[in-house]
Amino acid sequence: MNLHELKLAFEATYGKAPEAVYFAPGRVNLIGEHIDYNGGSVFPCALSFGTYLLVAENNESVINFKSLNQTESVALSLHQLTCPLDKSWVNYPLGVIAQFIKSSYEINEGFDLLFWGNVPNGAGLSSSAALEVVTAYAFNDLLGAGFDRTALAQIGQEAEHEFAYVSCGIMDQFASANGAKDHAVHLNCDTLEFELVPVKLEGVKILISNTHSPHKLDSGAYNQRVTECKKAVEQLNTVRTLKYLAELTEAEFKSIESVITDPVAQKRARHVVGEVQRTSDAVKALKAGDLTLFGQLMNASHVSLRDDYEVTGTELDCMASEAWKIDGVIGSRMTGGGFGGCTVS
Ligand code: GLA
Repeated sequence: MNLHELKLAFEATYGKAPEAVYFAPGRVNLIGEHIDYNGGSVFPCALSFGTYLLVAENNESVINFKSLNQTESVALSLHQLTCPLDKSWVNYPLGVIAQFIKSSYEINEGFDLLFWGNVPNGAGLSSSAALEVVTAYAFNDLLGAGFDRTALAQIGQEAEHEFAYVSCGIMDQFASANGAKDHAVHLNCDTLEFELVPVKLEGVKILISNTHSPHKLDSGAYNQRVTECKKAVEQLNTVRTLKYLAELTEAEFKSIESVITDPVAQKRARHVVGEVQRTSDAVKALKAGDLTLFGQLMNASHVSLRDDYEVTGTELDCMASEAWKIDGVIGSRMTGGGFGGCTVS
């Protein structure tokens, strides 16, 4: 849908014109997977796909949540904005609004909201982060809160933790909030310092391929990985003080990995330490124009996510390994949380 069509849809829904329109993009992660909550660096790009939010005030002391992508519409009075609903898409924008209220911003008037997005749901391309960040932008503006983009990403992440119960890192919301055209975001997820790295690809394309096997973050497998990594950190702390797995070099990890008694937690940690190195090498390779090396690192990332982190699955493995056989493919890997979703080649 284009902007004109969206405005017409708003008028058809609410019987008046929208007062403001906002947009936030989805993201594709080039490399650095399952690294954000382990304190390392990631390398995502914002997409031209994303979520739009059209808004107008109403005089009803109610916030109306409607989406052109969802059948369920919800109306909440102004004192119902701080508790999650039982299984609803509205929890993403509601969770964001609740964070503003938590930060002492009062919502004293009602709003009519209409969302529309073209990031496929469940594809691992951060449709939920786009929904959170677009809501954060809008309410930052509507309430005159003045948060910067990084703070808006953090608000989105909190919403995901508290209203969607996913212990996600900051990568998705950060890429949505701070991404820029023709650039990837090299983000240090510990300090939140970032650099926009130009992605100039002459004669080469980034291709996102959807397995259409839905990626299910709420299945618990994601939170389980977060827990396994914490367990590894706890045990490593018996021989070396560290906050995050990403602080270790591969050589350091090798010398102390045996203190992680659970073989599964040990494998998870091995992925993280290796992926941190690959991401650093990949950013250097891109800056040096060495796409062949970048592609090899992408392939190695997939293998590690398949064998040590175990978040790929049949469809993603099939899609990546078939891509590796195709002449002209420089590299291919799963992208995002995994367990279904997309590959990036
Ligand atoms: C999901 C999470 C992110 C990140 C990725 C894996 O997309 O929301 O925080 O952990 O998985 O890299």
